[in-house]
Amino acid sequence: MKPKYNRVIIKLSGEALAGDKAFGIDPGTITSICKNIKDAKDLGVEIAIVVGGGNIFRGRDGEGIDRSTADYMGMLATVINGLALQDALEAMGVPVRVQTAIEMKEVAEPYIRRKAMRHLEKGRIVIFASGTGNPYFSTDTTAALRAAEIDAEVILSAKKVDGVYDSDPKLNPNAKKIDVLSYIDVLNRGLKVMDSTAISLCMDNNIPVLVFGLEQPENIVKVLCGENIGTIVKE
Ligand code: GTP
Repeated sequence: MKPKYNRVIIKLSGEALAGDKAFGIDPGTITSICKNIKDAKDLGVEIAIVVGGGNIFRGRDGEGIDRSTADYMGMLATVINGLALQDALEAMGVPVRVQTAIEMKEVAEPYIRRKAMRHLEKGRIVIFASGTGNPYFSTDTTAALRAAEIDAEVILSAKKVDGVYDSDPKLNPNAKKIDVLSYIDVLNRGLKVMDSTAISLCMDNNIPVLVFGLEQPENIVKVLCGENIGTIVKE
């Protein structure tokens, strides 16, 4: 199979790492996701990963906690997930560098754009942890920002649902999956693809977003090879 892209960002939600559990990291799930990320890398694609933290702590769920503090707690959760992904990928022989937007040099190297790009050129996977390092920004916005910074051609947004629907498929059995969307449609219709800051950043920098389900982890390889599964958000 021939990949359609040379350099991509994979956005993994924290929840994706929990598998069927409500909390934490499921070893079987992370292994199967990483196996597929390895297969994707073996196609010759340069891969950077932005991981969320919702399986451990989600800033917006921090009821009674100051918003900025809750967001920092969420950012720390992404570091835990980043280290877990690094460990699982390296156990499969894939070289990985975790870079964190909040400096904690005993734990991981700091985010340095040019170093991240050099790692990618050398065939390493780079995991961007700690979000943007700022409260009030999501890890979706991090994916959009880092994609623009490192010249990624596309964001692969791996979710629990297999694409974007016109209404919530869990609540409405007649919800229809949408194959193609424009950025402005997502914003106008308030579709829950990414938050509006993230979508605006993608729109301003013309970065397409492919939204697909991770139920079958081999979907990562499929979307990289241009198979039309899920939903594409573009101009
Ligand atoms: P090259 O410069 O291409 O050789 O990349 P490299 O990442 O192999 O070299 P470097 O010597 O910078 O890093 C070696 C190892 O140390 C890698 O696993 C890095 O992730 C890690 N590392 C580098 N800088 C830091 C840091 O500031 N903190 C921590 N915790 N690890 C670091």
